[in-house]
Amino acid sequence: MPSRAPDLREYLVRLLGSLTQSIRARYEAAHDDGRPLLGGHRGNPAENPENTMISFRSAIAAGCDLIECDVHLSSDGRLVVIHDHSLERTTNGTGLVRDHTASELRKLDAGHGERIPLLQEVVELALGRVGLVIEIKQIPFQYQGLEDKLLAMLRQLGAISECAVISFHHPSIQALRALEPKLQLGILEGARPIHPANLIRESGADVYSPHWGATDPQLVHEIHAAGGAVAVWPVDDELAVTWCKYIKPDAIFTNNPVKVGALLKG
Ligand code: G3P
Ligand code: CA
Repeated sequence: MPSRAPDLREYLVRLLGSLTQSIRARYEAAHDDGRPLLGGHRGNPAENPENTMISFRSAIAAGCDLIECDVHLSSDGRLVVIHDHSLERTTNGTGLVRDHTASELRKLDAGHGERIPLLQEVVELALGRVGLVIEIKQIPFQYQGLEDKLLAMLRQLGAISECAVISFHHPSIQALRALEPKLQLGILEGARPIHPANLIRESGADVYSPHWGATDPQLVHEIHAAGGAVAVWPVDDELAVTWCKYIKPDAIFTNNPVKVGALLKG
């Protein structure tokens, strides 16, 4: 994407971002306070349609430190926010996200009359309020050029330090590290590897982000010893919260930030 001068709205977003805590500073402050960061997974889907603006606003209102969203590329190369590669589960559309233009996607109902957000809208909402964790959906299908487009947008908005990018597709994270040393990066993992710290070293990630049920105290210790942070998901019930109080991750992503936020304080 060629660079261009920011318009007034983008300038104000950048100004707000420059006055805000970076996502790394949020992790450090939470560590110093001895509490995990609270992340709204897809916003606040317990109360609103997932990955919609109302869901992200609701997560911020619920006191989340971070919000998480899922990103794809439309057929005309726009970064759009939706979880699945297909449209059926969360919208009234059919087929694959990648086969529709952003304009076509924006005409769909993503629940309660909400539209599929453009990523830029979510970045602009988050800046100055919460850290934004952007999951790039590069698996099983891959979007050529997604990483470059994403970096160009974050740089244009001055949002590099307030955002993190995570993925199950570790080669994408490795590629992003080579392109931008300052961006916080995380690798997602569903299993319990023999040496999790090797995965963050190999990919250049800062954050190891496993399913909470694939964690144990030794894993957290190994990641911390390697200089990384641990962010677990989806922590939605008392068992998961109890486990997190035992293993002490740095961030907890939940589909129900109101309930889990209260349980974490209890
Ligand atoms: O934050 C990690 C988590 O979102 C990964 O799984 O399928 O919910 O996007 P998924
Ligand atoms: Ca996700």
